[in-house]
Amino acid sequence: MITSKSPGMLLRVLYLFAVLDAACLLDTGMLFPRESSSREVKELNGLWSFRADKSPNRNQGFERAWYKSRLVEVPSSYNDVTQDPTLRDFTGWVWYEREVVVPSRWITDKGTRVVLRVGSAHYNSIVIRGKGLDWPLIVKDFNLIKWLGANSFRTSHYPYAEEIMQMCDRHGIVVIDECPGVGIKDIRSFGNASLAHHLVVMEELVRRDKNHPSVVMWSVANEPAAEMPPAGYYFKTLIEHTKALDPTRPVTYITDSNYARDKGATFEVIPIQLNTQFENWYGKYQKPIIQSEYGADAVPGLHSDPPMMFTEEYQNVVLQSYHNVFDQKRKQYVIGELIWNFADFMTAQGITRVVGNKKGIFSRQRQPKSAAFILKERYWRLANATGRLPPWAKYPCSL
Ligand SMILES: *[C@@H]1O[C@H](CO)[C@@H](O)[C@H](O)[C@H]1NC(C)=O
Ligand SMILES: *[C@@H]1O[C@H](CO)[C@@H](O)[C@H](O)[C@H]1NC(C)=O
Repeated sequence: MITSKSPGMLLRVLYLFAVLDAACLLDTGMLFPRESSSREVKELNGLWSFRADKSPNRNQGFERAWYKSRLVEVPSSYNDVTQDPTLRDFTGWVWYEREVVVPSRWITDKGTRVVLRVGSAHYNSIVIRGKGLDWPLIVKDFNLIKWLGANSFRTSHYPYAEEIMQMCDRHGIVVIDECPGVGIKDIRSFGNASLAHHLVVMEELVRRDKNHPSVVMWSVANEPAAEMPPAGYYFKTLIEHTKALDPTRPVTYITDSNYARDKGATFEVIPIQLNTQFENWYGKYQKPIIQSEYGADAVPGLHSDPPMMFTEEYQNVVLQSYHNVFDQKRKQYVIGELIWNFADFMTAQGITRVVGNKKGIFSRQRQPKSAAFILKERYWRLANATGRLPPWAKYPCSL
């Protein structure tokens, strides 16, 4: 969207040029663009022209100045609307174009400031609609969260759209706000050039989301190779920097526990290994633990008893094996559990995937698998036991 602001309202508007000094960022940043008596917003929704740069060096768009010519049209992200497999799986630059007419006073009125703002894309995508902001999907997902009795999520593995953060504020959903530092596994990624960029990314995230009461914690990374030697300096610097940016919130990162993730392991092994991992982590740091991911793939409608991988029964037994341990440790130091994952989502193909990631407890079309009912029962039981049910505890809840 494009917004226009009149002078006099320009305090603290643009801090695009981040500095590396870890100054506290809690009182800087740009306001979310909303219509007001001094501010006009022009939405740029609708069909955009589009072209992927499939040239060998992926750079032809810049070299031949594509922005000077016409492109084709897309209404959303391109992956799910195409019949072309090379486009669906494309990596590289894609160009979008949109012509827009702005009110003439935006140009003629002296001192009017015009700002172009691009919202965020979202992996947690629904069929065909793709990664763009999708209000029906957001409302459906919040209804499902409440139906489940869940009260939190993590923005795996990138910041979510600000509109989603606003929904969390309104509906009392607690958020672990994660930056896009996912899968830092290559030793070169722990170099100081990457680190410098990562610090800027955290500055951008803190500056954008600091005013959301729903955000209770910053996550600086997901499943990095934290055992590599340069990781020590890297994470110490990153975490200290983030704490300096916002001294009011805890900073965390999500780590792969080193117990066997082999899905073929018998279910008796999960409780023993999980127990040992919890004890070891707690023994080392003496800090509360949140299980930020656990789960298994299930193709909706696929059944087998005794359970076999990719059936709904298999997913159920995996979850229940974890829950038994959570329930023991909850009384000591385990303070949270987040299912991996809320809903199925599309990925590149691979031998561990059945048409995308199927670890959702809801399908990509947002229909429940049987695991969703196990969690619903569990979450409401836990919520009931607190004796402090939130105001929206009745289903269906008013939005
Ligand atoms: C990054 O910089 C620090 C401080 O100058 C230095 O100690 C460290 O060795 C550097 N790390 C790498 C991976 O080059
Ligand atoms: C929670 O409490 C409500 C009202 O007391 C009850 O209707 C509901 O069955 C309980 N749910 C669970 C899962 O215990």
